Amino acid sequence: MRIGILTGGGDCPGLNAVIRAVVRTAEDPCGDNVIGYRHGWQGVVEGDSIELTGASTHAILSTGGTILGTSRYHPDDHEGAADQVLDTLARDKVSTLLVVGGDGTLGAARSLAERGVRIVGIPKTIDNDVPGTDRCVGFDTALWIATEAVDRIHTTAESHDRLIVIEVMGHRAGWLAVGAGIAGGAHAILTPEDPFDIEEVAAVLRHRHQRESFSIVVVAEGAVPVEGTLDFAPVEGPTGSIVAGTIGERVRSELAQRTGFETRLVVLGHVQRGGPPTPTDRLLATRLGVRAVEAVHDSASGVMAALNGDGIILIPLTEASGIKPVNAELLHVARMLLG
Ligand code: F6P
Repeated sequence: MRIGILTGGGDCPGLNAVIRAVVRTAEDPCGDNVIGYRHGWQGVVEGDSIELTGASTHAILSTGGTILGTSRYHPDDHEGAADQVLDTLARDKVSTLLVVGGDGTLGAARSLAERGVRIVGIPKTIDNDVPGTDRCVGFDTALWIATEAVDRIHTTAESHDRLIVIEVMGHRAGWLAVGAGIAGGAHAILTPEDPFDIEEVAAVLRHRHQRESFSIVVVAEGAVPVEGTLDFAPVEGPTGSIVAGTIGERVRSELAQRTGFETRLVVLGHVQRGGPPTPTDRLLATRLGVRAVEAVHDSASGVMAALNGDGIILIPLTEASGIKPVNAELLHVARMLLG
């Protein structure tokens, strides 16, 4: 049997651990072979691929990025591209394609599954916003990096008596902001799920500064103000990603003006997506990779391997559509710790 694999969308730590697990499970003891498509869907459309073997994927478990490369190319946006996908997979004799991605990449997987392509999905994104799984590959590492940044900012903010705004990734969901904000002890956390009133935030911080000399505000890049409270529109780049620093700078300047405190902005950006995966991400990536290959052997298709409590399950790909927002309990905790 010949299994195809691609990694699409923004990269994240843990993708290579998925690839390694897939190859090892497929090759030995099953004797399957694995073909990797380069730069996500673009590689399938263009027939750009490499053979993946145990030898070519050894020593990648702990490395960041993806040895296959990635892109935000979506076949749905290019005329004739979906037909090209069918042609490439038929020519390469691929029985099932493993698609490792977030919302955009898995969305393309859903439309191709409707056209008869046999697909098994694997959820990854540091934004952690794929529905149907308790966690996505890459999130744990990014959360660790962002939390460490909040810890480090604490000491410099306190030494200088400053209000420091830290912008983290998460354009449609605030999992990273809430996670790193709570774990790092931020004094305000702004997310896409819970629109903020900037004057309310300023009032909380003014009150805090009656007893403390510094503050940390963690802002998700997709955070939005309550309608009518601030004239702000998110700025998106060519691939639909939010332009880093936009909301962070606006929040910083508004808070500087409304509180009179000395302020600084730190935009964590792609630092959150780089470097080696944590053990938790390596473990999740490996479990999902193994389960995905087993799903292929069980003739499953149109499904996604997902973390569910302590186990890995298969869910219909259709259930992974859209964005999984931060749950109400976590948002409540973030609000309780304001100031
Ligand atoms: O999709 C994950 C993500 O990390 C988002 O949080 C962020 O908006 C985006 O990628 C940045 O993408 P790019 O690397 O294309 O600028």
